[in-house]
Amino acid sequence: MNLNLKIWRQKSKKDKGKIVDYPIANVSEHMSFLEMLDVLNEELVSKGEEPVAFDHDCREGICGMCSLYINGEAHGPDRGVTTCQLHMRKFKDGDTIFIEPFRATALPVIKDLIVDRSSMDRIQQAGGFVSVNTSGNTQDANAIPIPKENADLAFDAATCIGCGACIATCKNSSAMLYVSAKVSQFSLLPQGQVEAKDRVINMVNKMDEEGFGNCTNTGACEVECPKGISLDNISRMNREFLSANFGLKK
Ligand code: SF4
Ligand code: FES
Repeated sequence: MNLNLKIWRQKSKKDKGKIVDYPIANVSEHMSFLEMLDVLNEELVSKGEEPVAFDHDCREGICGMCSLYINGEAHGPDRGVTTCQLHMRKFKDGDTIFIEPFRATALPVIKDLIVDRSSMDRIQQAGGFVSVNTSGNTQDANAIPIPKENADLAFDAATCIGCGACIATCKNSSAMLYVSAKVSQFSLLPQGQVEAKDRVINMVNKMDEEGFGNCTNTGACEVECPKGISLDNISRMNREFLSANFGLKK
């Protein structure tokens, strides 16, 4: 395939940035999207030009690093996959492909297609953990009975990879789907109950402090989430938040 890539180039956080045209030839349909960018970068380097900076690590849908907005969609046109799992067979010869970074005030662009997602880490640090008593009488987690339904829902929530697609897709740049997955992962399990109140209050407050918007129930986040995280998690987090603040029943 011969393609016309239109890629966001931005030298630094302070640079204004612009779209630059990069025609690319002989792209195999079997390449992943990131492999196609690797080929482009090899060509740029061999011409003495600056390669396009983009984030990646595992390249198998686990780490959540590959945050690209492709033709106006987070992680591109496929569903249930990250950018690294997207293949060039989803495109056709002669296509023009716009490639931009995830955009949100709380996720500023560092360079080209790379955004700073440390605001998401700080939300996680505010409460996305359980403290474990290691005094010698710690109960074996496998010995604590948990209803199957709750275990499944908690596991589903735990599959959030923190990619930020939900935030980039939301018209309000809301992090509610992400944060609700992190809260739900613990709120459904007995191990998560000890710090439940502080967790939800601290994580929601941090989310607001970092400049993420609120949820207006559009549901775009759920559609674009590569891990199928459900909007039900947002309802659960809202119940947890109300109960933690006002003592309402969950
Ligand atoms: S909820 Fe989905 S889209 Fe949002 S950070 Fe988690 S995996 Fe990514
Ligand atoms: S590179 Fe790890 S999820 Fe894409």
